[in-house]
Amino acid sequence: MSIEVVYEIPATRAAVRALRDRGRVALVPTMGALHDGHLALVAAAHESADAVVASVFVNPLQFGPNEDFQRYPRTFEADRAALEAAEVDLVFAPGVDDMYPDGPVTVRVAAGPVGELLEGAVRPGHFDGVLTVVAKLISIVQPDVVLFGQKDAQQVFLVQRMVRDLDLPVEVRVVPIQREGDGLARSSRNRYLSGEERAAARAMPDALAAAAQAAPQGAQAAADAARAVLSAVAGVAVDYVAIVDPATFDAVDDRYRGPALVLLAARFGGTRLLDNAAVVLREAPQPERP
Ligand code: PAF
Repeated sequence: MSIEVVYEIPATRAAVRALRDRGRVALVPTMGALHDGHLALVAAAHESADAVVASVFVNPLQFGPNEDFQRYPRTFEADRAALEAAEVDLVFAPGVDDMYPDGPVTVRVAAGPVGELLEGAVRPGHFDGVLTVVAKLISIVQPDVVLFGQKDAQQVFLVQRMVRDLDLPVEVRVVPIQREGDGLARSSRNRYLSGEERAAARAMPDALAAAAQAAPQGAQAAADAARAVLSAVAGVAVDYVAIVDPATFDAVDDRYRGPALVLLAARFGGTRLLDNAAVVLREAPQPERP
């Protein structure tokens, strides 16, 4: 039997009601252009629930006016086949008019101060758009568990905060970053890289490895080590190298010790890539006061 695809919200609610007889329902939200990273989310969804729903929706609300909404890859037939092979039970693939029938929504979820940092500083309004569509998807599907990839660490942090702050009745499960053989994090945007840019992009996992190695010398040393690796590669434009406390997303400095997240964003030609890794920082030796 071929996989069930629904486009409209009432039909989705009815199809999910029928799945609920089996037990727990998991939701894997995606924007399509699926790769092995998404399929790892589906595999984790099967472990976490008895029925799996995937959504495929390129959400215009999370793209800025000069971003790649039109250019974002739309590969629905391939996505559907991949989801079918991964034994997803239901695909929710609404159109923009199904999700936003009155045009751009006027009520949005505000991501707050963390939504304005890092990705949010480069892409103003992005996280309000992400949280609004994730809240809508959770409201439509009402899953027991919803799954996200750690590659988008700030998105994961904000979704967890939204679920906690708004008391949404859903468990958030985070799946580790999936990597290519040479360490590059899997991303729908990797397909835009030319051969040369793809080779240069290996600097992203290399920079994270350098940061982890320097972490015992403190936050500044870890950031400097990552930046040095990226700067050594021709044609890379670094947007940020940041080190944050994973519990708050506050930037940390050399007085901080303990678990931290190293976050990278860099452009390879016209393609912007993200990556991150957990490290453990030691407090850097402070200069003696005179
Ligand atoms: O991570 C993504 O693909 C998107 O931001 C998401 C969570 C599907 C919301 O559109």
